[in-house]
Amino acid sequence: MARKTISPGGSVSGVVELPGDKSISHRYAILAALAEGASEIRNFSPAADCASTLECCRRLGIAVDAKGEHVRIAGKGLDGLKASRRTIDAENSGSTIRMLSGVLAGQRFTSTITGDSSLRRRPMRRVVDPLRQMGADIRSTDGDRAPLEIRGGKLYGIDYTLPVPSAQVKSAILLAGLYADGLTIVRESVRTRDHTELALREFGANVTVAKDQVRIEPRPKLQPRQLIVPGDLSSAVFLIGAALVLPESSLMLHNVGLNPTRTRVLDFLISIGAAINLASVQSRDGELIGDVSVRHAPLVGGSISGAQVAEMIDELPMLAALGPFTEKGIEIHDAQELRVKESDRIATLAEGLRQMGARLEEFPDGLRLEGHESGAGTATSKLRGAKVNPQGDHRIAMALAVAALGAEGDTVIKDSECVGVSFPEFFKTLERLRGGEVQEKVQEDLRK
Ligand code: S3P
Repeated sequence: MARKTISPGGSVSGVVELPGDKSISHRYAILAALAEGASEIRNFSPAADCASTLECCRRLGIAVDAKGEHVRIAGKGLDGLKASRRTIDAENSGSTIRMLSGVLAGQRFTSTITGDSSLRRRPMRRVVDPLRQMGADIRSTDGDRAPLEIRGGKLYGIDYTLPVPSAQVKSAILLAGLYADGLTIVRESVRTRDHTELALREFGANVTVAKDQVRIEPRPKLQPRQLIVPGDLSSAVFLIGAALVLPESSLMLHNVGLNPTRTRVLDFLISIGAAINLASVQSRDGELIGDVSVRHAPLVGGSISGAQVAEMIDELPMLAALGPFTEKGIEIHDAQELRVKESDRIATLAEGLRQMGARLEEFPDGLRLEGHESGAGTATSKLRGAKVNPQGDHRIAMALAVAALGAEGDTVIKDSECVGVSFPEFFKTLERLRGGEVQEKVQEDLRK
């Protein structure tokens, strides 16, 4: 298991092409498997999570040819999947298990799907409940967790209001809706990312979106497509964080996904003083993309709560890590969902940042990081380097790395290879953007 040592200081500058968006890659892979013919996907995410989705598709009898970020998937139509003799393994990926559960519920065979120890701790009732309402027979030894045994069969359309804002659950229901008898309607009172709706349309499904509800008609003939995945904004955000922590930084990020259900993080950063600009915004394959530039600027700080939370759920760890670099700090509420992500993100982050000397308060639904209150807007965070443990959680590892850039002294991040779950090249990219002026040393800790 690799440890990463981050030395502070310097600046980041340069141009970055982001790897493909993880959320969109999952959806394109699943829909390509259900389409009638071969799809080609470019800039497919190199994230381990998306490799898990591809592997699950292979287990279900779909030919997948992945050459780097260019993936060819030979779809066999809605009824072309084959039963897997072995358990299907979603590894660390919540999106994979939840979205595939919707597909598996509509098959004529039984599947068992599970994941790694982190995924087996995460709540699945939120997806099992609506699928059961659609007629699915899903069993699990521990009512709410993977492994799930999904006995596929006849499904009926439902009209379902999401009790927890979750794009993964919404997506599972919409995918099951492809197989249902009748119309399926999902209602959400808090907006979540809409990549599934957009991707379903790209592949030819009949999806309508009206205000707070999505309707899908069953049994479309999905058409194979040639698609390019936009760059991953949720990965870009960690590089943006580096630029905001390190004075004299300036970055240009190309072809970043700018879907409005994902860009709330940029609005928030701009509202607290970040110098961020968007250019060349255009629509491609139903998704907005564009170039994002960021320059270092003093940050005031601010608070996040309510409906904002769902739209920047994956960025909250990085925003919290910026707290000590803002004048007034960052306060987050209504984010109890963070406790059931790859780790308990509130606790893991609070522990790591506390070890680095941050002053913070933890709440059941969030946390508050004190700012530097210098009033001068300089990044005098007073953090100090420490040994930190992200508990195998990719986004916590990257958030702590951002904080480490502005600390005094080196920070050692345990099991840093976990960044591969979403952004395998994170440390390399960061190093390149720092122009090699600050040394980062990887140490192999063979005994862990
Ligand atoms: C995702 C939705 C979010 C997010 C996750 C990816 C998706 O999860 O945190 O990283 O691709 O739909 P929830 O749906 O559980 O909120």
